[in-house]
Order: sequence, then structure tokens, then C-alpha cells
Amino acid sequence: MPSNVLMYLAYFANQIRKRTPYVEHVFKAFYALHVTTNVERPNGCLPPVAIDHVVDEPDLIRDIARNNGPYFMPARYLIGGETAADARKRTPKIVKDAPAYLIGPTWRGDWAFDGEVLVEEAAFLLHHETFMESARTLFKSDIVIPEQVFVNLSTPMKAQPFSHVDIPEFMGVTRRNAPGWFLQAMGSSRLFEDVRISIITVVAWFYEGERGFFRYWPSGRDNDSVRHERMWNTAVAGDNDFMHHLVERVGPKSSTPPEGMTINTELSFSDTKWNVIEGGEVLSSFDDTSVRLSLSWKAKVFSDTKNLEDYQTGSGDISVSEAINRFNAHLGSNFSDLGDDDLRVQLTERWSGYVV
Ligand SMILES: [Fe+2]
Repeated sequence: MPSNVLMYLAYFANQIRKRTPYVEHVFKAFYALHVTTNVERPNGCLPPVAIDHVVDEPDLIRDIARNNGPYFMPARYLIGGETAADARKRTPKIVKDAPAYLIGPTWRGDWAFDGEVLVEEAAFLLHHETFMESARTLFKSDIVIPEQVFVNLSTPMKAQPFSHVDIPEFMGVTRRNAPGWFLQAMGSSRLFEDVRISIITVVAWFYEGERGFFRYWPSGRDNDSVRHERMWNTAVAGDNDFMHHLVERVGPKSSTPPEGMTINTELSFSDTKWNVIEGGEVLSSFDDTSVRLSLSWKAKVFSDTKNLEDYQTGSGDISVSEAINRFNAHLGSNFSDLGDDDLRVQLTERWSGYVV
């Protein structure tokens, strides 16, 4: 991405962060709260929990990864109309004209989605007790509904130039009916805190190659960051819809991504190598140890059974149209359709979830 565009994104993100207390104050006066846990975040996010030992057989995680390709670039869920729910079909559409900055050497595989196991060998991870316990600790609640397990695989690359927060979900507007860019704007705008669903993310690492560290901001983006350096069978459980984080350089300093990649480029393992494949042609191959593997687990958390029931019955849901109208009221715009490109451009420029 050209640096002036990055600066532009960062400027808007910072403006919104500075105005957050005011925005929250105003909308609370107008909307009834249907948030699933009503936690306070004086430091911008809940304090993360480090996990020293994730599974008893860490090599098994890499085995499962090798056996269940091919993998697809996750950025495809951020553009166009594709929802993350489309991911489970595992036959993604060919995306044309993706912006270059979204094309990077990171690929995703979904192992469980919506609480449904997609890769049978990985079923034990969905209700993994270590993850469940970290959710109860972080949100101080026993009602934890695990939904997603996915892996990200990266071949050598430079550090991400910006930190990000994860894609959130809301009562009635979720990964099932809205694309990532829309959910991201809902979260970063802070205009939808009354219907926010509390989500915990645990990110675990199974990587023995060079670098590949994880940096995060446990006390807010304006305060000190922490670098997690032990990347084998460790994890950080965090409030990642609020806590900024990024992946540092993977592999040796001079490494560059394979040439000729598009957003449709896939990664898959065969014989003894990971292969980067574009249109059936192998662009580049990597040893198993040089491919960074992170495993993410996401669960929804509810403070009491009433909140859970409301979520399950849809009581207090807002619709996608209501969400668009709330943006309209804030922006003085007149959008009506998720398919409107201008809506995507305006929301993404203002509330991308990225900070340089
Ligand atoms: Fe993330």
C-alpha cells in the first residue's frame, strides 16, 4: 500500500480513538444496551492472559495442517461481498482486482466455524479446556460458546506495517450476513457498543523457524507494547477485538514473498514441501520449519443466561439495514445497500481497524 494511504488510514483511526469516550457517551443515551457482557475497558482492552503450554502433542497440530490444505488468503473476506461464512465451502470465488496491499504470503484454513467442526482431526481443539478456562478468566463469566478454530500459515515475510484489531460481531450482524470490512467499521466506529457480542481470541503458535514474533498492546495502543517470542506451543488469550496486535518479520531479514502472487494464490503441502501455487503453477516452495503456523480460537462470551437466550432467539438484534442507517445518521449519508462500493470505501477509509 502506498505510504500516503497508510498515513490517511492511521489519521482517521487515531481521530476516532481520541473521540471514543464522547461517541460512547452519546450513543448510550440513545440506545438500549444488548451487549453480551458489560465489561469495562479502562485501558482500551481487557488484560490478556499468557498460556505457557497449549497442547500435549504440539507436533500433531502441524501434522493436521500439512494434511488439510489447500489454504486461501484471508484478505478475500475483507473485500467484495464475501462473508467469512463462505470460507467453510473451501472453494472460494476467484476475486478480481484485489488491492496489492491485501496480497501477502499468509494463508488460512478453517478447522471449525459457527461451532461446527470442519476438520475432524482438529475437533478436540473446539472445546479445549485451556482455551475455555482463559475465556472464563478474561471475561469473568462461565458462559463460553466456542465457535471458530482456524490456522494462519505464513511463508517468510516482512513485519506487518500496521497493527490491527480483529473483526467483531454484533447482535444480528455477524460473519454470516456481513462482510469483514462492514463488521470492522462497526467495531472501530464504537457506534454499535450497545449490540456488541463479547468475543475472546486465543492465538497459539507452533513454529520453530526464525523470528515470527507476535507484538501486542495490552494497555491500549498509546501505551507500551509487548513482544511474544516463544513461538512453540504457547499462546496469548486476548480481547483482540479491542487489543491491537501484529505479526513481526517471519524468517531471515532479506526474505521477500514469492513473485507473481494474486489474492487467489493458494498454499498446500505435498511430499516434503509447502508449495505456493498460482493457477496450478508452483511459484515457490518452502521447508516445513520455515512456515509459521498460528492457530486461532474464538468463542462468544455471555455474562448470564438471559444474554445468551437473547442472542439465541435474536431478541434485541439489529438488522444490516438498521446498521447502515446508524452509519447514515452519523455520516449524513444515504446508503441503503451493502453492495454499494461507496459505502465500503467510506467506511474502510474511516474505520479500517488498522493503526500504523
Ligand atoms: Fe488478528
